[in-house]
Amino acid sequence: MKLVAALGLALTAVVAVAGQTKTVWDGVYSDAQAGRGKQVYITHCAECHNEGLQGGDLAPALKGEDFLLRWNDKPMAELFERTQKTMPQSNPGGLMPQETADIIAYILQVNRMPGGAADLPSDMAALEAITMTRSR
Ligand code: HEC
Repeated sequence: MKLVAALGLALTAVVAVAGQTKTVWDGVYSDAQAGRGKQVYITHCAECHNEGLQGGDLAPALKGEDFLLRWNDKPMAELFERTQKTMPQSNPGGLMPQETADIIAYILQVNRMPGGAADLPSDMAALEAITMTRSR
């Protein structure tokens, strides 16, 4: 009887954690990860989106008001999937999911979202639980 009650409590706790939604302002990547992402970005993305992510003739900016407005209130899974499946435009799908997660960590850092203890994950369920918001 006691055991059943304890199991019930444990289960409730797990469900509560799984259902929690975070935003990009809650420290959802690590600074080390953003550092790795920067290297991958420079190799595969900067030729079109430019070194400072400001975009140019070849591609839109990945930072600033327009970019943040486009993704505002959308799950991180959408930005991840968009990047993973269609970029780099010269070789769509050419990145490992881990590399895509690292690049997105770098994009968040450049957009002044704070880093945290853990890396941004690359699995879709976890990414669904993180929301892009343009401000806190
Ligand atoms: C050959 C040029 C080129 C390269 C290289 C490239 N992109 Fe793009 N990217 C584009 C163009 C053009 C668009 C806009 C048209 C489109 O959506 O396909 C775009 C759009 C995007 C978008 C959507 C922006 C928005 O707000 O709608 C993201 C995110 C993105 N790129 C990320 C990346 C990342 C990350 C890399 C490196 C892995 C990369 N791109 C490499 C040309 C490029």
